[in-house]
Amino acid sequence: MKQKILVTGGTGYIGSHTVVELQQAGFEVVIIDNLSNSNIEVLDGIEKISGIRPEFVEGDASDFKTVRNLFETHPGIKGIINFAASKAVGESVEKPLLYYRNNLVTLINLLELMPEFGVKGIVFSSSCTVYGEPDMNPIDETAPIKTATSPYGNTKQISEEIITDFVHSGAPIKSIILRYFNPVGAHPSALIGELPNGVPNNLIPYLTQTAAGIREKLTVFGNDYNTPDGSCIRDFIDVVDLAKAHVIAMIRMLDNEDSEPIEIFNLGTGRGLSVLELIDSFQRSTGVKVPYVIGKRREGDIEKIWAEPTKANTVLGWKAEVPIDDTMRNAWAWQCRLADKK
Ligand code: NAD
Ligand code: UFG
Repeated sequence: MKQKILVTGGTGYIGSHTVVELQQAGFEVVIIDNLSNSNIEVLDGIEKISGIRPEFVEGDASDFKTVRNLFETHPGIKGIINFAASKAVGESVEKPLLYYRNNLVTLINLLELMPEFGVKGIVFSSSCTVYGEPDMNPIDETAPIKTATSPYGNTKQISEEIITDFVHSGAPIKSIILRYFNPVGAHPSALIGELPNGVPNNLIPYLTQTAAGIREKLTVFGNDYNTPDGSCIRDFIDVVDLAKAHVIAMIRMLDNEDSEPIEIFNLGTGRGLSVLELIDSFQRSTGVKVPYVIGKRREGDIEKIWAEPTKANTVLGWKAEVPIDDTMRNAWAWQCRLADKK
């Protein structure tokens, strides 16, 4: 029988790609999303790719009654992937309570209801932001957690602690915490991708919008860092590779009796790429020029961070596979599709 999985934030960027992978792996998916940062048409994209329209509940996962009602009306949920969260770093500085309420209360609601409804495991979306500016790269899961530089980052650290404390209390659940590095790209079908709200803060949506002529030019935030070309270095991980890791994590939690009740994995490629190298990859792989200028450093930016993904490679048996040039082509195809729809 198909196992039923609840995906919170399932119409969002990473959530939608993960829903497709779950369906293709034979899981039945129920989504809850309040559409605060996504839209209902994402379900059409998912259905076109997988041939299955996921069950969808429009609702706020930070509302306890809504979540309880969902479990009552959708019996048999075995696992949860919790993507639902607010994620804009800058906004979190301006509206910290919104971030603490949305990100933490949502998680607490889910954890609290899991034992009652027999849900065995929860996969949680964390971030490499918990490492702050690393003392060395690549960085593995044993590296120290640094003081968060934003309320958003703090919600990820606190969430990890909440899950850990709950599991250690003897709660009858398992959890896998996934620390994403920089998710980029879109589904190769160009039917789902990232839907940035307003002016993008993140590099790839800004870059693709610039390439499409929506923005005049991209500003590279600083070329005076202590890196080979002076721009910052990140570990850009293809969103479909990332989505696949969630399916593997879910199977491990639900089916592997011997796995630890709580596990943490870095999800990255293990390769650091500079901002300038990424622009170069985009231009080379798409043949489209991106006008850019070098600007000042952006406050709060980490100079360089990339993952040591060996634990995910060996324990999960997962490895990032999509070459960065393919990821860039997919990001561009998605941008072109968005432009067509307007
Ligand atoms: P996203 O904004 O595209 O998706 C989040 C989804 O959750 C949206 O569809 C939004 O409408 C929904 N949502 C938010 N609050 C909700 C609530 N209270 N109830 C129901 N739905 C709610 O973001 P994403 O990039 O797909 O990120 C998914 C998760 O991964 C988030 O937890 C994010 O913090 C984490 N993460 C993202 C990145 C990244 O760079 N994209 C990096 C590290 C971690
Ligand atoms: N950058 C530019 N110009 C831009 C946008 C970004 O040069 O217009 C640079 C940034 O300075 C940084 C790099 O591109 O050096 C990547 O920036 P992003 O904003 O795309 O990503 P960050 O690494 O700053 O942060 C992202 C998410 C965080 C998350 C973190 C780790 O925004 O929420 O990845 O997962 F915590």
